[in-house]
Amino acid sequence: MQSTKSFKKALLVVAWLCTQAIAQNQIAAVKVLGDVSSLEPNSKAWLSAPYTTIRLYTKNGDIQTKNLRLKALHNAKYIAFLLSWQDNMPMRFDGFALQFSINFDDANKLPYIYLGNSTRSVLVHQRINTEQFYLLEVLDLQQFLEPTQSLRISKKQTNNGATFLASGFDVIEQKEHKNIHMYQSYQNANYKAVLSKPLQSDDGDLLQSIFSLSFLLLDQSSKDTKPNTFISPWIGIKLMGIDSDDVFLKSSKTPIDGDIIRGKELALQNCAVCHHFDDAHNAPQNIAPDLSHVSNLTNIAYLKESILQPSAVITPTSNANANFPWFYIDDNGQNISTMPAFDWMDTKSLEDVIAYFASLKF
Ligand code: HEC
Repeated sequence: MQSTKSFKKALLVVAWLCTQAIAQNQIAAVKVLGDVSSLEPNSKAWLSAPYTTIRLYTKNGDIQTKNLRLKALHNAKYIAFLLSWQDNMPMRFDGFALQFSINFDDANKLPYIYLGNSTRSVLVHQRINTEQFYLLEVLDLQQFLEPTQSLRISKKQTNNGATFLASGFDVIEQKEHKNIHMYQSYQNANYKAVLSKPLQSDDGDLLQSIFSLSFLLLDQSSKDTKPNTFISPWIGIKLMGIDSDDVFLKSSKTPIDGDIIRGKELALQNCAVCHHFDDAHNAPQNIAPDLSHVSNLTNIAYLKESILQPSAVITPTSNANANFPWFYIDDNGQNISTMPAFDWMDTKSLEDVIAYFASLKF
């Protein structure tokens, strides 16, 4: 009996290590001597960098995924990314965005992955085929707003894209799109796109802060439908040839050494009253986010923080269940999560629970 159990456990550990190997959470930006501030997809400079493939997920956790192939170059002043992805039909709202976590100095306290949140903003550079567009229309943000919240978006992009500061679903502010170069071309059922920007600017210092970013693709499948949004988790960028701070890379590579089977038992006891996940579906509908695929878009640090300090990052949503709001606003105007903090859990149990949720990704 004992040996079947440990065999099963060993299998799970192998499975977990495999998913870790597939999930690419960092890219090396190759250092070059020439100018990289205005490259095009077929510029020769890209020959010096290899492609890395990363997987993108939809924000609502359905099984659809999309692969994005990436190259990165830098010359210590500018950084440039080449993105390549398949798409059978070019459409008006097809496009891409890069979302930078800016000015963070703690790799364990990153913003919410999709458009930031009130205490941790992210800088978004976005470009869509059509020159004038409404971010609201494209991203369908309205569904996330409380009646009292308003969107501050001015909605124009030029052919070279647009930049926004996103602080959660309620505040998206258009910023100056200066010294940023975005370009997108379509050929043979494939998009190629380029973004380049200074490593240091008023909008953030990518040499000094924790440098991680998330990639987003918008894929419209027919003229009358909203585009699907595919997002990557936070990806760490290693600037080759620069002694930059790679705390994010170190932290995101830290393996979690938990017991997945015990983690599931603890999750069933402590989390299943509110959350749905895996085969646990007893909680009333929508009183908390579904955690079945939570680790596709998050990382160990985010899971840990969510469990120990639920109010640090509130999952942006309109309180989906009117009787059980996900958060309330206290007298100081702070958003307070209705999830209790599990700061009483011993380290071993916490690691087991995290290892379990981290193992659920596809
Ligand atoms: C009393 C209900 C309740 C319990 C019990 C509970 N949670 Fe939550 N949880 C919530 C609510 C509500 C939210 C959404 C608000 C927020 O982000 O804090 C949430 C959010 C989360 C998130 C962030 C999800 C995301 O998509 O960003 C994670 C991770 C999480 N919970 C994990 C857990 C784990 C693990 C347990 C058990 C150890 C647990 N929760 C127990 C109510 C609960």
